[in-house]
Amino acid sequence: MSFPVCLLLIFLFKSDLSKSEADMRSIIISALEKTTFFLANKYRDINLDAVLGFRVFARYFHLKGALEKWASEHELLSQQVRVERLVKKLSSLIEKATHSLELSDPEYFKKFEPILGRNFWMLPHSWNQTNSSLAYSMFDGISCFTKEMSDKCFTYLLGTWKDNGKSCIVTRACRNIMTKFGCSDYSLSHQLFYFMFADVKGCSDHLFLRAQYYKNIFCACMMKINLVIESTGFRFSSRDLLMENIMFCGMSGFSDFYKPSWLETIFIWQKPEEGCFGKPNENSEHPSRVKDQEQLLRRVKRREKVFADGCSFHNTATAVRVLWGFLYYY
Ligand SMILES: *[C@@H]1O[C@H](CO)[C@@H](O)[C@H](O)[C@H]1NC(C)=O
Ligand SMILES: *[C@@H]1O[C@H](CO)[C@@H](O)[C@H](O)[C@H]1NC(C)=O
Repeated sequence: MSFPVCLLLIFLFKSDLSKSEADMRSIIISALEKTTFFLANKYRDINLDAVLGFRVFARYFHLKGALEKWASEHELLSQQVRVERLVKKLSSLIEKATHSLELSDPEYFKKFEPILGRNFWMLPHSWNQTNSSLAYSMFDGISCFTKEMSDKCFTYLLGTWKDNGKSCIVTRACRNIMTKFGCSDYSLSHQLFYFMFADVKGCSDHLFLRAQYYKNIFCACMMKINLVIESTGFRFSSRDLLMENIMFCGMSGFSDFYKPSWLETIFIWQKPEEGCFGKPNENSEHPSRVKDQEQLLRRVKRREKVFADGCSFHNTATAVRVLWGFLYYY
């Protein structure tokens, strides 16, 4: 092949690639725009977890790098304008939702208020992949510890375990559960979350010198779990976990979680009219899924609210965080 032809091919290939990325971004932005319709109607009933989801969303936006990159590409200016409009709308909704949450669940709100701060979350500045050989060959069980136990460990790091409490406290019990090997599902993501918290709080306990070591292991396991969820057809009861794993490990810098085929699958789960994520419509679902839903309801977490239309704040917030993660990554 002559030199100029080769250059031309490289050029065509490259422009094709960036076009499809631009298209992907556009679809992600549309999906996010739809979620704001949902929030605008329902913000009074929001739970903490969902506020957090939308907060992280705003945090992504405030990162200058991504937008500057866009601005340098002329064709992407319109996307930037859409995102700016989206964030403006969301910011005011988030303020209202945060206030309404503070009134409805003051005790829980106080415990986790620090993580609602605009600057709490950090975003990855470099990317890496998981190493599958680090994943456990077997998982011990779904639940290594209760949500109450992990919440307690988080408040010790945050300093919200009492008024004017000291932060970055690592108790022996917390150290044990947060570094226990063999945990799966939500216990596993809470273990990762614990090390992420410590990072953003800048905790210096010697446990956190090994933070990257634990993150490498936890995310290798979470990837293994996501691949199982994929190979078993994305059962309804597993979707939320799949998205949480993408969100947490993506934020920890593992780019292999941003799989384009997973993104396309997530788009399918968004309810076209409501713009939310949640229980699939009965008429569009296979009967065997009903059992899945019952299982999910038994495991209902975080003071979850599911609306009559099947919309769930928790699922929607998780999806929003995942979508932002993808947008940031592209
Ligand atoms: C993955 O982990 C194994 C075991 O620790 C190690 O031998 C291997 O070099 C790692 N691979 C990469 C690509 O880092
Ligand atoms: C990427 O992860 C592997 C282990 O999975 C590690 O050996 C390597 O140093 C990491 N690279 C960077 C740039 O962090």
